[in-house]
Amino acid sequence: MTEKTAAPAPAAGKGLQNVVVGQTKLSLVNGTEGKLIYAGYNIEDLAEHATFEEVIYLLWHGKLPTQSQLEELRKNLFAEMSLSPEILALMRQFPKKATPMAVLRTTVSALALWDADADNNSPEQNRRKATLLTAKTPTIVAAWERIRTDKEPLQPRADLSLAANFLYMLKGTEPQKQEVAVMDAYLVLLSEHGMNASTFSARVTTSTLSDMYSAITTAIGTLKGAAHGGANEEAMRMFFEIGSADNVEQWFKDNVKTGKKRVMGMGHRVYKALDPRAAVLNSKSKAMAEATNNMKWYELAAKLEKTARADEDFIKKNLYANVDYYSAIALYTIGIPMDQFTPLFAIARVPGWCAHIFEQWADNRLIRPDVEYVGPMGLKWIPIEQRGN
Ligand code: ACO
Repeated sequence: MTEKTAAPAPAAGKGLQNVVVGQTKLSLVNGTEGKLIYAGYNIEDLAEHATFEEVIYLLWHGKLPTQSQLEELRKNLFAEMSLSPEILALMRQFPKKATPMAVLRTTVSALALWDADADNNSPEQNRRKATLLTAKTPTIVAAWERIRTDKEPLQPRADLSLAANFLYMLKGTEPQKQEVAVMDAYLVLLSEHGMNASTFSARVTTSTLSDMYSAITTAIGTLKGAAHGGANEEAMRMFFEIGSADNVEQWFKDNVKTGKKRVMGMGHRVYKALDPRAAVLNSKSKAMAEATNNMKWYELAAKLEKTARADEDFIKKNLYANVDYYSAIALYTIGIPMDQFTPLFAIARVPGWCAHIFEQWADNRLIRPDVEYVGPMGLKWIPIEQRGN
């Protein structure tokens, strides 16, 4: 019996590294120089000046909104923010121990069941669904926090922005100005990032002519993993495990140098320089920690970053802090529960995913790559009774 392998086909880099799968007008990620541009605007400029709503408009229309366009978007978003009694009743049946990312994935998927036009993929319907999904995601995340802690979910307020509404619906208190500013900057920074894994998932699902709810549900499932969006929660858990800035060097030696653990929130497939979003979030999380008089976790994170960046392997492999590293500190300082960090990432990324779905529909072709077969060849059928035990 011969066991030959087929002639190898030309293979892409493992994990599709360096493979260009299409074109986009949404963002440019320059990994060598550590630059990120949304539709022509530097991310630092947007994080400093733009609200999340302005960036949503930019991603969906390719230009910044005028005052009246922004008001219109805000009005449309607010009109879609509340959850129906059916969705709230469904969420109340989930086990209280269910993780927020699993709840978000399932609830976003369930929204489609009450949308008569869920499978209508016209540009108008997809715009409406993008608005609905962007508006309802923060409400779902906040409602789950209330439900699992035996509190009543809160209704969104018309006088608040998306960022402020999320904080209000989560905590039930009046959001503070600095918290809202940091939240807005976070949402702006995380809203779009080229062909990252979850965006790719959303585009693959869309390319099969499936609907927007399915594409966003797919993307949420992909974002959940610790190598992608799940890293912000893992970074905070790592800071807790280290416990104090005094333990950083020993922890690094015992865990990272022995190959037992990675520094969560460091390293990136594209950035071989400092992730520009990490730089912005570093200063924002520092300011937030100073304002709340709780420097412990910021100082620990800063020391771990310094220790890692002085390590010869980290230098050689170009491993720098990524967006998840300091966002963990910023979100923790604002009082977001650790397992809600990744759902927050999803809140930010929904409009970016939707923008990619619009682009995919505008010039669609089924995404279906090839794979190199490396298994056996030429085997002959063996009846089951002759296959041994
Ligand atoms: N800590 C220690 N070593 C690391 C780290 C890290 N955080 N990241 C990569 N390395 C090392 C690997 O061990 C590997 O070393 P080797 O060549 O000696 O085997 C080398 O760097 C390359 O690692 P890969 O996993 O092949 O790099 P890849 O580009 O596939 O992975 C990834 C990128 C997944 C982000 C990786 O850096 C990682 O696991 N980081 C920690 C998790 C994280 O922060 N993820 C969030 C990414 S940003 C985002 O999705 C929003």
